[in-house]
Amino acid sequence: MKKVLLSGIKPTGDMHLGNYFGAIKQFIDMQDSYESYIFIADLHALTTVRDREELRKNIFTIAATYMACGLDPKKVTLFQQSAIGGELCELTWMFNCLTTVPYLERAVAYKDAIANGKEATVGLFDYPILMASDILMQNPDVVPVGSDQKQHIEYARDTAEKFNRIWSEQFKMPEPLILESTGIVPGIDGRKMSKSYGNTIPLFASDAEIEKAVMSIVTDSSGDIPTNVYAIHKLFKSEAELAPLYETNKGKYKASKDALANDIKAFVAPMRARYIELCANPSLVEDVLSAGAKVVKVRAEQKMVAVRKSVGLL
Ligand code: TYM
Repeated sequence: MKKVLLSGIKPTGDMHLGNYFGAIKQFIDMQDSYESYIFIADLHALTTVRDREELRKNIFTIAATYMACGLDPKKVTLFQQSAIGGELCELTWMFNCLTTVPYLERAVAYKDAIANGKEATVGLFDYPILMASDILMQNPDVVPVGSDQKQHIEYARDTAEKFNRIWSEQFKMPEPLILESTGIVPGIDGRKMSKSYGNTIPLFASDAEIEKAVMSIVTDSSGDIPTNVYAIHKLFKSEAELAPLYETNKGKYKASKDALANDIKAFVAPMRARYIELCANPSLVEDVLSAGAKVVKVRAEQKMVAVRKSVGLL
């Protein structure tokens, strides 16, 4: 019996290198050894995306990105979160009834969003509990994510513990899987790569866009090695491979950036070609999502029967 893996990405815009190295690459590396459930967190995206066409496009983009990067639908169940929206919302309600307001007020992502002027909707506030439902619904052993999701997984663990203690043992304790080397992929300004900071290198950009993003990596002129360029370069090559290159290019930032741009372009080219192919044949992606929806629907229905019995609804 393989261990179970679950993770998801919110369809709020184009994927960047942070999503790839922090999350997607782990899903691919583990797809042979885990029974994997990978999804598109479209219900979570409703906290920010309010345009119908944009959401449709973003959902497709994430699904096609998963497949283009190498997730194999024969090995992995790929699905849209909303395919089990009813069950997830029911479980979220049960969890909400166990969750206190001060506990949720400690969520760092919520506090940051409010500090950045976002509207304090109930959905934004309750985001970690819907995420706890995503996770606990599938009883995963591991949840591979970037460091920014660590607290959310702690919320899921606390919620599982509370439910199991108050009602009956229904949920396994999920373990976060965060790689030290890629838990926080830096952006072009050295801060965590994030769409909200406008510091990303998009995964499937054109060569010209990749070059432009790399050329705008912030460098400071105090050292021989441009720290921010090197930190991103380490994602593509080992330190041993990079050492002679940065030795030759000492003090020549433009040459190091050219080398990095070339490595990124060579790395993404085959995935980008597959992505373009999938965009031209959307039914290849849609069929995978429909098949995935059926699988998770059955699992969610079964799980909810046990959960309803546990709380006394059945
Ligand atoms: P999201 O869509 O913001 O990010 C998707 C994944 O990419 C990782 N990531 C990064 N990792 C390293 N460095 C970076 N700069 C970087 N930027 C993004 C994130 O850590 C994440 O793993 N709440 C989740 C979606 C979600 C989910 C879940 C995940 C909903 N339910 C259940 C796991 C399990 C989110 O918004 O991720």
